[in-house]
Amino acid sequence: MTTRSATAIAHANIALAKYWGKREIDGNVPATPSVSLTLGGLSTRTTVALLDAGAAADALVLNGEPQGGKPLARVSRMLDEIRALAGVATRARVTSANDFPTASGLASSASGFAALALAAASAYGLAPDRTALSRLARRASASAARSVFGGFVSLGTEADAAATPIAPPEAWDVAIVVAATTLDQKPIGSTEAMERTRVTSPYYEAWLADAPGLAREIHEAILARDLERLGSAAEASALRMHACALGARPSILYWSAATISLLRGVEALRREGVPAYATIDAGPHVKILCGGADAEMIAKRLGPLAVRTIVARPGPAARLLEEAP
Ligand code: PMV
Repeated sequence: MTTRSATAIAHANIALAKYWGKREIDGNVPATPSVSLTLGGLSTRTTVALLDAGAAADALVLNGEPQGGKPLARVSRMLDEIRALAGVATRARVTSANDFPTASGLASSASGFAALALAAASAYGLAPDRTALSRLARRASASAARSVFGGFVSLGTEADAAATPIAPPEAWDVAIVVAATTLDQKPIGSTEAMERTRVTSPYYEAWLADAPGLAREIHEAILARDLERLGSAAEASALRMHACALGARPSILYWSAATISLLRGVEALRREGVPAYATIDAGPHVKILCGGADAEMIAKRLGPLAVRTIVARPGPAARLLEEAP
């Protein structure tokens, strides 16, 4: 049976152990394991409504703007997978909105494809379990596999990888201060950047050899609730990922002057005895991992170096809304 419409909300996540590089491009399998924290706030809300049987194509409206080209093709690819599972050919209209800047290193593809997988599966009458849903999301965007779950989450590198939860959001009072350095879109998408890194960076093999050990350490530090160990390993993971990408040719440099100023600001906080650790994704923004009680103070201190700061606490799993809007 098919439902005609379903709405889901999913939250962004920030990788503490980064994935960078694909082991298998077609199946979108990460080359390195990752560990993330799903964030409260920073969410995408997506409605999938089935169109009349005669409709020839899917439609996508993102943050109020109709989309074609690559964004629509990526969405249609996920819908095709779901239609094949459901045995239904009907096209759909997807309406999606973020409450944070799109495509700027704030992981909108993670929350976006997690929300889409859940809303579309439901609209087409499927009820996949969380593992199947995570696998489905991963094929569109590996980081999206992690946003299916709340709290601390890990994702491996197996051919059929799906994320698994490590600890729920209420397990540990930490926070991530997102210090956005620009509201512009990032110059090079992560898929293209990863592939260029794999093909041209002489540091890629070293990254592949090193990343699993850091991911293990990060996993253990979460289980032990050891912020200092977690933070120092997370910072190393981000900086090594960027070092590897910097070695590509042409080089991939996501940072701006503000990125460096924020990194220095985080070092200064640590010198004062505040446990604060930086991580950076495929963009210029800096995200600061800290204890929950320090987050507002850190946002205030680093605020002048950023265009916008957001204090994010551990957040919940992707979920369906009872009623379509
Ligand atoms: O899965 P994608 O295409 O959103 O790539 C994610 C890449 C990083 O954000 C830099 C790292 C990660 O593990 O989320």
